[in-house]
Amino acid sequence: MPTPLLAGNWKLNGARNEARALAEAVAKGCEDVDDREVMIAPTFTALCAVARVLDGTKVKLGGQNLYWEDSGAFTGEVSGPMLAETGCSYVIIGHSERRQFFGDTDYSVAKKVGAAHKAGLAPVLCVGETLEQRENGATLGIVETQLRHGLVNLPQQGYGALVVAYEPVWAIGTGETATPEQAEEVHSAIRGILESILDGEKAAGVRILYGGSVKPSNIDELMACPNINGALVGGASLDAEDFLSIVHYQES
Ligand code: PGA
Repeated sequence: MPTPLLAGNWKLNGARNEARALAEAVAKGCEDVDDREVMIAPTFTALCAVARVLDGTKVKLGGQNLYWEDSGAFTGEVSGPMLAETGCSYVIIGHSERRQFFGDTDYSVAKKVGAAHKAGLAPVLCVGETLEQRENGATLGIVETQLRHGLVNLPQQGYGALVVAYEPVWAIGTGETATPEQAEEVHSAIRGILESILDGEKAAGVRILYGGSVKPSNIDELMACPNINGALVGGASLDAEDFLSIVHYQES
């Protein structure tokens, strides 16, 4: 079983002082954590301040996006090597908000996954269906397309660091969480797709996170599912107490 990963996606929240205080509280609350990994992804402008807070702690740092070129005339973008030198070890890629509002496509997501690998960052590749797609019975097809396309630029040796996040769009920020059965159905399909790309042992080692209204009240039942290896947490990661209860979920 891979080491579970509990990740906080702060989205566009947390000016520098707030971010520093939240990171301090998270790091302090994770001092006793040793059988799971914790990562937080602040905004770009807070990365340096948060990196200083996390230095020497058990909490890892992640970016929320990256561009695939290392440098050049790409106004407003941030590259993999820049995130890495800031102290990031992870980067979230293809979040549904990026796909919905900022034009990320399976093509650009794949380029970003390749760039993350090249920069030594672990990609957290997000996939997930909309409500309409679920109602039309298209969930597994959509997730498979996003996953297979998203991985085309990842060489075999990059799969050890890969993290996949299944985030049903209808569950993000809505308070409505997928049931453990709904989530496990998709997670086990994702595992099957990974097994068709990698050998079985390597596919079993890829962490598949669930994301979408994860809260202290539902984390235990989600983590009890065999193919759920962690969570990508939005809203609840902005409250140190809530996020720390999620990190300290009870194993069943
Ligand atoms: P949420 O967000 O926990 O607020 O639903 C999850 C995410 O978007 O990663």
